[in-house]
Amino acid sequence: MKTFYETLMGRRTVRRFDRGKTIPDKSLERILKAASFAPTACNLQPIDYLVVESKEAREKLYPHLKLFSSKNPSLYIIALVNEELIEKSYQEVNFPKGILRDAYYISLGCAVSNLVNQAYAEGIASCIIGGIDSNAIKKDFDIDPKYSIPLVIALGYSEGYKVKPMLVAKDACTKPYRNQEGTVIVPKKKLEIKRK
Ligand SMILES: Cc1cc2nc3c(=O)[nH]c(=O)nc-3n(C[C@H](O)[C@H](O)[C@H](O)COP(=O)(O)O)c2cc1C
Repeated sequence: MKTFYETLMGRRTVRRFDRGKTIPDKSLERILKAASFAPTACNLQPIDYLVVESKEAREKLYPHLKLFSSKNPSLYIIALVNEELIEKSYQEVNFPKGILRDAYYISLGCAVSNLVNQAYAEGIASCIIGGIDSNAIKKDFDIDPKYSIPLVIALGYSEGYKVKPMLVAKDACTKPYRNQEGTVIVPKKKLEIKRK
């Protein structure tokens, strides 16, 4: 079993999935539970999830994933942010709206990070997709207007997707690229610890 640190270091975004494989319900449950136990500002927990699993639903969603080109993940998870709950919290929490709003969206990042790392711990690959047409998704999936949709997460089993991180200088280009062997290289900035 991987240590927690090995899980965090080993997860990479995957963009090619094994077509026929399904994710066991128990794994999916743990993945979503890990997301729901993430820290959230004021413990508001303004994020819900819609699992898009049937072939028909996946095919309906795919054209709205503008920056994603693999048709074969086992499922997608649509992240839903409850704007009504956030709006209500502005009246209850005595703090500037803008800062609160940022904090709720940072909380979304914490939740999605838990989600993809738990998935990886379960042997399941992921791709976070921010490049989406959220209005089209809302319409096609009849989403309650109280929600906004910041991103979708693709989950599945990697199919020969070769990817590895590479340490680079702090000011180097961080754009991932494919090398001559077809491996996707993901530059990661060398750690520089600043102390005061
Ligand atoms: C908020 C967010 C949005 C992203 N949107 C996309 C996307 O639309 N399409 C895509 O292929 N990857 C997307 N990614 C994945 C990043 O490209 C990927 O995390 C980055 O290249 C680093 O690779 P790694 O995840 O393997 O460390 C997104 C990641 C994050 C955190």
